Amino acid sequence: MGAPGRAEAAYSACRVIESRPVGAYRLVSFIAREMAAGARPGQFLMVRRSGPALDPLLPRPMSIHDVESDLVKVLIDPVGKGTLNLAAAGVGDQFNVLGPLGNGFNLEGDGPALLAGGGIGAAPLAYLARQLMDRGREVTCLLGFRSRAQAIAAELFRGVDVHVSTEDGSVGRQGLVSELLSGCIAGLGPGARQAELFACGPDAMLRAVSATALECGVRSQVSVDTHMACGVGACQGCVVETVQGYRRACSEGPVFAAADLKW
Ligand code: FES
Repeated sequence: MGAPGRAEAAYSACRVIESRPVGAYRLVSFIAREMAAGARPGQFLMVRRSGPALDPLLPRPMSIHDVESDLVKVLIDPVGKGTLNLAAAGVGDQFNVLGPLGNGFNLEGDGPALLAGGGIGAAPLAYLARQLMDRGREVTCLLGFRSRAQAIAAELFRGVDVHVSTEDGSVGRQGLVSELLSGCIAGLGPGARQAELFACGPDAMLRAVSATALECGVRSQVSVDTHMACGVGACQGCVVETVQGYRRACSEGPVFAAADLKW
């Protein structure tokens, strides 16, 4: 992981100030004034347990779910060691946190914004939705989950026009988020060409929604999900292929124009 000293030096000790279940996921808030002040939607944190026990050895990338005053919030799916460690943390526990990292979404357009999230890929879309609405954008949020336990996360999108699909049909429409997107774009009629898609989720879902958007002439920004070791552009472990060559998802992404990605 080249240049570890540089990355190590930038980690800050942050305390957990809130931790609560949101269905199958967990919402964890850190008190981190400077990170909160600088965070943009689509950026992420590298999070590692503090203390001498380096297990897991590598920090874990986590999308910024929301920012509120001095708090930076992450929504996690506790499935691996890093996320299970954080999910088990209590209020007052300390973690080493680096961020905000990455480029984040580009918020400059002015047409209708269609936000599509698959599973825990919904995490960064709450902050994005709020920031876009603050800029006067019309926002529609489409969230696809496996089942009810995950779909409870839709409750975190208060004040946003949210449509949910689940694979088992337990909440919302049965099916995939790409199907929700097709209907939503059709509903926009000729206005669809001014729309813009912002998506985050697993690769297959990103490919499906960006293909749907492309067919309808809708521009897309997608936040890719890759393995990250350093999070700061040093290890080359997160590269994705684009029409401009290989790019590091951590430092030159994780958000890319879908049209630039070589899937
Ligand atoms: S995670 Fe190391 S270069 Fe991206």
